[in-house]
Amino acid sequence: MTDMKPPCAITIRPQMIKDAAAFYRILNEGNFDFFPVTVKSVEAEKRFLRQSRIHWQKQQTWNFTIMLGSKVVGAIGIIPEKSRSYNAEIGYFIDREQHGHGFALQAAIQVEQFALIFCPQIKRLQAFIVVENTPSIKVIEKAGYHKEGRLQSYLKCGDKYLDAYIYGKIIR
Ligand SMILES: CC(C)(COP(=O)(O)OP(=O)(O)OC[C@H]1O[C@@H](n2cnc3c(N)ncnc32)[C@H](O)[C@@H]1OP(=O)(O)O)[C@@H](O)C(=O)NCCC(=O)NCCS
Repeated sequence: MTDMKPPCAITIRPQMIKDAAAFYRILNEGNFDFFPVTVKSVEAEKRFLRQSRIHWQKQQTWNFTIMLGSKVVGAIGIIPEKSRSYNAEIGYFIDREQHGHGFALQAAIQVEQFALIFCPQIKRLQAFIVVENTPSIKVIEKAGYHKEGRLQSYLKCGDKYLDAYIYGKIIR
């Protein structure tokens, strides 16, 4: 009998305007090298979240907050392509203080379940990951996505254009 602890479980829920300060802190303190999103202020993040709610209502994007109990620890979203809405991109980030607990993988599995149940139009999920982003590559491969190719200078992170792998998973 080992003394291994079971992993902590996260949950996902639709994003709320009150998450703005947490996302602002996580994204700015995180200073993530391979995540091409920055936030100028908490107000700017609130504007993004208001837009995000409208997009959810129109079934254009589904953005979720990742919760550990009552604490915001990250975000994950499903974004269908405009002209091919059966293809949807997933993207995620986790608070730097909470890395290494498998939270992103749990969230990736939960959004896939959401897409399977609530988004019958989505056939394929895909992710674009900077080739040096080892943690994210591990997450997406454990979630069952297949590497489909390398896209040159595909993601702009800061002032650099970086090569990305495209990963895909056919969900139905
Ligand atoms: C990518 C990210 C979401 C992973 O979240 P997480 O909840 O910490 O993921 P996990 O705990 O499952 O860790 C993933 C794996 O990477 C490993 N890892 C973590 N940091 C690492 C590092 N610096 N170098 C190599 N491997 C690393 C972990 O040990 C784990 O490996 P394992 O599955 O073999 O145990 C998180 O690192 C993050 O928020 N990064 C910034 C935003 C980002 O890059 N998002 C993805 C855009 S495509």
